[in-house]
Amino acid sequence: MTPRSRRAARARTLAAGLCAALAGSGCRGHGPSAAAAALYVKNCASCHAEDGRGVPARRGLEPRLDLSRSKMLAKGDRGLTSQRIAWGYNTMPGFAHKLTPGEIEDLVAFVETFAPVE
Ligand code: HEC
Repeated sequence: MTPRSRRAARARTLAAGLCAALAGSGCRGHGPSAAAAALYVKNCASCHAEDGRGVPARRGLEPRLDLSRSKMLAKGDRGLTSQRIAWGYNTMPGFAHKLTPGEIEDLVAFVETFAPVE
């Protein structure tokens, strides 16, 4: 290895490390970012559960907590999904005051990974 390629390799390693640490902006690969997963765990998992199927204690009363059975997500209408997250509906709280439009967009991509496959 030449000194130059060694330097390049080191830079790549550093960039990968930074991506892992920052998890998000500019480091996005395919699919939703790690930042979106963290946002989901922080803001959504208390009701929808980490696996997206809804916390069992509430799922009986509010079956739509189970995102893996969501007809809306199955349709893949991102505009509608982001509106739901931003403004909430029924007992689902809105997050427009708490999250940026970019974060909401990331969450749309993230919850789509729970969607039923038709
Ligand atoms: C306080 C509990 C609660 C939290 C926190 C919450 N939700 Fe919900 N969410 C609900 C409930 C309840 C429904 C179903 C509302 C209904 O039955 O009409 C729902 C519905 C949804 C739906 C639509 C499902 C469908 O098919 O209608 C999506 C998408 C969704 N939530 C995403 C999220 C995301 C993303 C977050 C975090 C930013 C989040 N929710 C946080 C309670 C919550």
